[in-house]
Amino acid sequence: PAKKASNPISFDFKEIEAGVDQTHHVAEGYDAQVLLRWGDPIFADAPEFDPMNQTAERQARQFGYNTDFIGFIPLNGSADHGLLVANHEYTNEELMFPGVGIQDAKDANFSKMTKELVDIEIAAHGGAVVEIRRVNGQWQVVKDSRYNRRITAATPMDITGPAAGHDRMKTSADATGRKVNGMINNCAGGVTPWGTWLSCEENFNGYFWGKLGDDHAEAKNYKRYGLGTPAYAWGKYYDRFDLTKEPNEANRFGWVVEIDPFDPTFVPKKRTALGRTKHEGAAGITNSDGRYVVYLGDDERFDYVYKFVTAGKVDPQNRAANLGLLDEGTLYVAKYNPDGTGTWLPMVHGQGALTEANGFKNQADVLIETRRAADLLGATKMDRPEDIEANPQTNRVYVMLTNNTRRKEDQVDAANPRANNAFGHIVEMMPEGGNHAAAAFTWEVLVKCGDPSVASVGATFSSETTKNGWFGMPDNCAIDSQGRLWISTDGNNAKATGRADGLWALETEGEKRGTSKHFFRVPVGGELCGPFFTPNDESLFLAVQHPGEAEEGATSTFENPITRWPDFKDGMPTRPSVLVVTKQGGGKIA
Ligand code: FEO
Ligand code: CA
Ligand code: CA
Ligand code: CA
Repeated sequence: PAKKASNPISFDFKEIEAGVDQTHHVAEGYDAQVLLRWGDPIFADAPEFDPMNQTAERQARQFGYNTDFIGFIPLNGSADHGLLVANHEYTNEELMFPGVGIQDAKDANFSKMTKELVDIEIAAHGGAVVEIRRVNGQWQVVKDSRYNRRITAATPMDITGPAAGHDRMKTSADATGRKVNGMINNCAGGVTPWGTWLSCEENFNGYFWGKLGDDHAEAKNYKRYGLGTPAYAWGKYYDRFDLTKEPNEANRFGWVVEIDPFDPTFVPKKRTALGRTKHEGAAGITNSDGRYVVYLGDDERFDYVYKFVTAGKVDPQNRAANLGLLDEGTLYVAKYNPDGTGTWLPMVHGQGALTEANGFKNQADVLIETRRAADLLGATKMDRPEDIEANPQTNRVYVMLTNNTRRKEDQVDAANPRANNAFGHIVEMMPEGGNHAAAAFTWEVLVKCGDPSVASVGATFSSETTKNGWFGMPDNCAIDSQGRLWISTDGNNAKATGRADGLWALETEGEKRGTSKHFFRVPVGGELCGPFFTPNDESLFLAVQHPGEAEEGATSTFENPITRWPDFKDGMPTRPSVLVVTKQGGGKIA
């Protein structure tokens, strides 16, 4: 149903053609500048990228691989000068390393993966802080900035909040249960009003070798998170990535990490109060009463939507005080009722089923096993919750549900209404009275995604949406300063849809609600991440993740990639990159 909007501002760019080829495309009248590529030096003394002679030491001084979340944190309130914070989610060995095909990289013994290559991967994970500045319309990296920093999967971090120091968090390297090296598989995230970066550990399970026996105390816990089928060779060389040698190490991953980009010596904090899941993102909003509310998706088929409400209030005058806010508060999980109402169920030890009888001795146990706790509370099993963003102008909250082809006919519910949901959908939530801390909310499905011209898909874009305008597999999203929703996608490959992933603008207000337009598309094999706007909406940061990744059944390698985007130079591999889009002649995007 159309919603009455106070002041709907429609998108007015000319949409691009959907499709797929070797390069990116942006709407007419806009420029997309390549700002940072994998391997670009981010320090004045960092070595230039040399793909045939890469080392871990070089990689640790260069931009990492596969950026998902990007944030822009202004310096002195400027929209043309600030800190770019970027996650480096994962690595593609077959595209990064000469002579390592995907079968070699991932065979039973990871036979081609030497310790040297694993160390490069560890250095290519994590994140980066990079000072950037716009000069004469062009964005530049400030290489001699005092803020620039690489964080890797080996960077020392603190564990804070209720699970810190718990026995299940202790390892032979850390008797305190409060220190861990590195963050892994950091997907989306968020930027707080006090200028920190929230970086979210997602598919941490793929980094751990070894299976624990069914009688092991952590067996159930680890099964619930899918541990036991490693996708990386790290456990071959590092005992901490082998559960049979270091059974608690995996409890130290799967958290939201807070990083202060203004202090390059800041020890990143894993904020355990926000729960342990395959965190997609952590986008927040300051509630009307001053508390900070973070919305969190757990990206797995049949997993849940969460929110965290701080106990304390954001203090705009005291930045240091805000740095402790995320250690105290209440985590909730969402239950969507068939009648369009919903309830946030508190995840508090001793309440409901979260008792010792069910294996939770304290709040640390609830947080370490967030998923099992949510199962017991009866939360609604969703179709892979990815990014969630609250619109500060309307207080409505948008949940990207990317897909779930395993949902059967007898498993559909009102909030996940399609079986074999290949294209995903978006749920819009309205907190009771606009209060993000409230237990009650109402909700509706904003759009069921997919091609509206194929009746069996059951897509519900507006009839004004063109053949280019529809999308599937919503993943990351952003709300610009005018309150408009932008959605990037993951999975619209040539085989599934004959079109690349990209960025779409989706009307949420007024008569045009449900109308989508295509703004940008990625080169073949890529997924689009970011998106993130500067506060004036004049620059839009986008990340092209895993360009050149082969679809199932095809191959793409360092030597013979399906695209050499963005350099298109012989011998240069394809490189995941961050782009910045601006309007020709200046002005707001769209
Ligand atoms: Fe890393 Fe849920 O995507
Ligand atoms: Ca991703
Ligand atoms: Ca994602
Ligand atoms: Ca995804």
